[in-house]
Amino acid sequence: MTILVTGGAGYIGSHTCVELLEKGYSVVVVDNLANSSINAIEGIKKITQKDLTFYKTDLCDKAELDKVFAEHEFDCIIHFAGLKAVPESVAMPIKYYQNNLTGTLNLCSMMKKYDVRQIIFSSSATVYRSDNTMPLTEDAHLGATNPYGWSKFMCEQILRDAAAAAKNWAVVLLRYFNPVGAHSSGIIGENPSGIPNNLMPFIAQTARGIHKEVRVFGNDYDTPDGTGVRDYIHVTDLVHGHVCAIDYAQEHRGCGVFNLGTGKGASVLEVIHAFEKTNGVEIPHSIFGRRPGDNAIALADPTKAMQVLGFKAEKTLEDMCKDTWRFQKRTP
Ligand code: NAD
Ligand code: WQD
Repeated sequence: MTILVTGGAGYIGSHTCVELLEKGYSVVVVDNLANSSINAIEGIKKITQKDLTFYKTDLCDKAELDKVFAEHEFDCIIHFAGLKAVPESVAMPIKYYQNNLTGTLNLCSMMKKYDVRQIIFSSSATVYRSDNTMPLTEDAHLGATNPYGWSKFMCEQILRDAAAAAKNWAVVLLRYFNPVGAHSSGIIGENPSGIPNNLMPFIAQTARGIHKEVRVFGNDYDTPDGTGVRDYIHVTDLVHGHVCAIDYAQEHRGCGVFNLGTGKGASVLEVIHAFEKTNGVEIPHSIFGRRPGDNAIALADPTKAMQVLGFKAEKTLEDMCKDTWRFQKRTP
């Protein structure tokens, strides 16, 4: 089987390429390297000792994308490519809608033109409204609070409508909770450009001495220790969910939607302490005010993914901290 991985040089995409190559799939990556580097592609080849085809192509460039489709017969697409920084999306909403929606629409056009019938889409827990009860099931109320979240919401709708019209398409929407961790080799991992927005990379950079301290955004939430609770999932577990989704797409038509999370929550202080304990490092931190737009808790109900996809996250918070730190130490 040949899989097109859009955004395959990125954090989750690169880990997925490793798993796909190790499972014997042929892999073609399209990435414009807007938020990644060619080093990730080299890293994938180093880990797997296998080759893949890489195109430095922007999904928004329809003519270039057409050439990629003309050169391969894809059995399935995994669509990771997109911009994902929430604060940047608030500052530059048009850039986010332009990139994330146009990329997805162009892919849909190519699927139609070249009769590619299966697509797995990187959605996010951010498409759930903040007033749902926890844990979140797939039928919880949808809505977003920022342009990034709305772009995911809109892409979901585009793909849902396309699947309904095409009849023979299989669309799988995967709503990720909080992916963290890195490949056990330490060769690939999350390497955000600029100052990280997300907790785990910020902790790892603080452990390296890049930042003075971690700012804990609020300790007055209605949670056991007052700090925000999230459902952190190891990136290699998350990747396994995509392999399950490929199998599901072979046998189903229409649109399926699944949460990818562990169902277990960890607070900001629990993550900091787990990182310290697992890695024998100190993470200076102090309490700051709440970050605007944050919720107290975001937790997946992973039952549907377990029952329908046969997916279960296996790795612990300690695994996530250990692998993050191994990668961070190797990163210049
Ligand atoms: P990432 O930024 O590391 O990877 C995305 C990749 O897409 C990058 O390599 C980037 O260069 C590429 N890209 C962006 N726009 C493109 C375009 N127009 N054409 C070609 N390539 C383009 O992000 P990630 O963390 O690996 O996330 C992958 C996907 O999962 C994204 O769609 C993201 O929104 C989604 N997601 C991520 C998280 C998370 O916390 N990491 C959570 C939920 C959903
Ligand atoms: C986790 C917890 C913060 C940084 C974001 C996006 C979401 C999704 C994943 C893609 C929260 C706290 C954080 C820091 C802190 N991405 N925190 N100090 O906010 O759950 O989700 O990334 O779809 O769309 O919104 O993840 O890692 O930013 O925060 O105290 O320096 O850590 O307040 O409680 P979040 P996060």
